[in-house]
Amino acid sequence: MNYPDYRPRRMRRTENLRRMIRETRLAPDDFVYPLFVVPGTGVQKPISSLPGLFNFSVDKAVEEASRAADLGIPAVILFGIPEHKDAVGSEAWKDSGVVQKAIRAIKKARPQLIVMADACFCEYTDHGHCGVLHEGALDNDASLENLARAVVSYAKAGVDVVAPSGMLDGFVTACRESLDEQDFDQVAIMAYSAKYASGYYGPFREAVDSAPQEGDRRGHQMDPGNVAEALRECSMDVAEGADIIMVKPALAYLDVIRAVSDEINMPVAAYNVSGEYAMIEAAAERGWIDRDRVVMETLLGIRRAGADIIISYHAPLACKLLQKQR
Ligand code: PBG
Ligand code: ZN
Repeated sequence: MNYPDYRPRRMRRTENLRRMIRETRLAPDDFVYPLFVVPGTGVQKPISSLPGLFNFSVDKAVEEASRAADLGIPAVILFGIPEHKDAVGSEAWKDSGVVQKAIRAIKKARPQLIVMADACFCEYTDHGHCGVLHEGALDNDASLENLARAVVSYAKAGVDVVAPSGMLDGFVTACRESLDEQDFDQVAIMAYSAKYASGYYGPFREAVDSAPQEGDRRGHQMDPGNVAEALRECSMDVAEGADIIMVKPALAYLDVIRAVSDEINMPVAAYNVSGEYAMIEAAAERGWIDRDRVVMETLLGIRRAGADIIISYHAPLACKLLQKQR
């Protein structure tokens, strides 16, 4: 393998040569597309910190989900912004809640499309924390009881996958047991297993109005310095019954994605989060980078790091670009 006998450039000479020896590719199959659902009808409200993305009422969310399905995207993940917030986030488990309605409507319109529901309470509580508070601190086990109620309510509405995102200890067991008790043994669990306390969630919190009024989430989300702990979290979630494990955010944690995909024999999802989307959009808007190129390079990097599934706001754009390449 030495120059001049081996000349790597020979295989880079034309696009077909490059295509033939490409090791990693993107496909629509890889993506999950997030949707933010709000009460009302006919609502399609731009999210200022996420240009190109919207808060949709259920009817509009169905249209957007259908567009995603038509692009070949296999799954959407739903986030809800409730009518009313309260101290415990009770709208999260209301059978007439906005996510429950969206699940029913999307499954009716596109039965083959996988519908996932994020399950947490920060969008639903008036204080913005991910569960029930006890003397100002997150009460883990009390919050699990409500999480169990919420995932059963999503299952009743017809959800395919629930995605507990609160990083509470025992959250997968709470979901699996409650689902199985109600005969929803076919509802899968995508666990936010290694979710870091990150500044990259900023635009998302604006989109769903879920920033904590006081304090932060460092008491339950992971410390950014840790990777061995991410493996422990993933192993625990697998033992508790997770069907998919997740690393989140993606870009500052590509090494974690690699470690998890090497160590854990389960499908690995990576969440290409709101701040990662916003940075590309902001720089592209100023003409500083080529949006299409950087989006594809970024998503490919997440795949190359070992992610089987990529949750991304750029999923529809990526699928359109993949169609153009053919
Ligand atoms: C809710 C939740 C968050 C995200 C997904 N589910 C925010 C948070 O933990 O504050 C972040 C998604 C994104 O930034 O795109 N627990
Ligand atoms: Zn939360």
